[in-house]
Amino acid sequence: MKSNANKKPIFVTGGAGFIGSNFILDWIDKTGGVVVNLDKLTYAGNLKNLESLLSDSRHIFTRGDILDSSLVQKLLIKHRPMAVVHFAAESHVDRSILGPEDFITTNIIGTFRMLEATRAYWESLEMDKKGKFRFLHVSTDEVYGSLEAQDEPFTESTPYAPNSPYAASKAASDHLVRTYYSTYGLPTITTNCSNNYGPYQFPEKLIPLVIVNAIKGESLPIYGDGLNVRDWLYVADHCSAIRTVLARGRVGETYNIGGNSEKNNLEVVHTVCAVLDELHPDSPVIPHAKLIKFVKDRSGHDRRYAIDASKVKRDLGWVPQQSFADGIRETVKWYLDHLDWVEQVQSGEYRKWIDINYGGRQLI
Ligand code: NAD
Ligand code: DAU
Repeated sequence: MKSNANKKPIFVTGGAGFIGSNFILDWIDKTGGVVVNLDKLTYAGNLKNLESLLSDSRHIFTRGDILDSSLVQKLLIKHRPMAVVHFAAESHVDRSILGPEDFITTNIIGTFRMLEATRAYWESLEMDKKGKFRFLHVSTDEVYGSLEAQDEPFTESTPYAPNSPYAASKAASDHLVRTYYSTYGLPTITTNCSNNYGPYQFPEKLIPLVIVNAIKGESLPIYGDGLNVRDWLYVADHCSAIRTVLARGRVGETYNIGGNSEKNNLEVVHTVCAVLDELHPDSPVIPHAKLIKFVKDRSGHDRRYAIDASKVKRDLGWVPQQSFADGIRETVKWYLDHLDWVEQVQSGEYRKWIDINYGGRQLI
């Protein structure tokens, strides 16, 4: 166990979600530092992800809402963190299409309240601590909209053109973060990241949904023609990018984070199926790819995302380490080794979501 003496804690929001929990486990493992974790535990928040820290004093958990300014202020004053890493959000595009209100509330007003509470705390710090403090806002490449096949990847100066309520809410939050630097001098940094995958991802997102359905012999729904492209990033690489940006990123800047792994959805699903054929040959339906079903497309479905991550490489020396082939293999293995975790998240609420999202989709 690494010593946490003389280390100021960091304050994480949304730390019981997919990326947040990977980040906390990684941060404590790599730095030995203390993490104060504020999470509302929505359907997407799962303390089982942090089970290994249950009796570890370096993880201080509070169940609460980022909209609750007085709670956030109390926690900041009590724990005196050196940084806020803001993950908490509603994160699923399909849910934002069927019910946008929570996205506006959490992602826009929630980020605004986090910024206000953090500003009050930051202004109370002594001068030398003020300069070292960081508010790191974790955002997405979806704010840039959709690319055609021949377009250059998104850079930090690509104009914002969000196409879903989720993407628009994240875009709004990015703009708010920007103004807290330009107007108040709060030392903010924003990262815009591509699609993550890996352990602890809730099985409403493509890769875990496909793994979980395939091992049960259930259909693998592909929206539209399956040729939409995403840039896939292994979540451990995202965690190392955030650590790098926190340590060396310049305040007021934004950094694009990507995996150098552009794949269309059919390639992704076929890759998962091939790994499952090898690692889980006793599934009800073999080969797993027989389960692929084309279904009605997502409304406003962005055709392609691609990230130009040369700024974070050039300025901070960060590059992703994991290849897509190895990352998918690790991910499939993780889900096969954690079927109890899968069972636990297959709650009533999750089943309800499957019926709402996929029930009305005609097979095509
Ligand atoms: P997630 O949905 O798995 O987790 C979100 C977490 O936030 C959950 O633990 C949830 O309980 C918590 N939360 C939600 N509303 C809250 C509130 N009002 N107060 C406190 N906690 C609240 O999301 P994720 O995939 O881990 O994404 C984390 C962040 O990274 C999000 O901001 C998302 O926009 C961004 N991001 C995600 C990806 C991706 O591929 N998953 C890619 C780029 C950026
Ligand atoms: O690009 C970063 C974004 O990646 C993050 O900001 C979001 O929080 C995260 O959810 C993710 O958004 P996507 O919409 O790209 O991820 P999702 O896993 O929902 O879908 C990936 C692709 O797969 C997308 O083209 C839609 C398609 N898809 C998805 C599901 C759930 C299917 O074809 N079938 C499905 O059942």
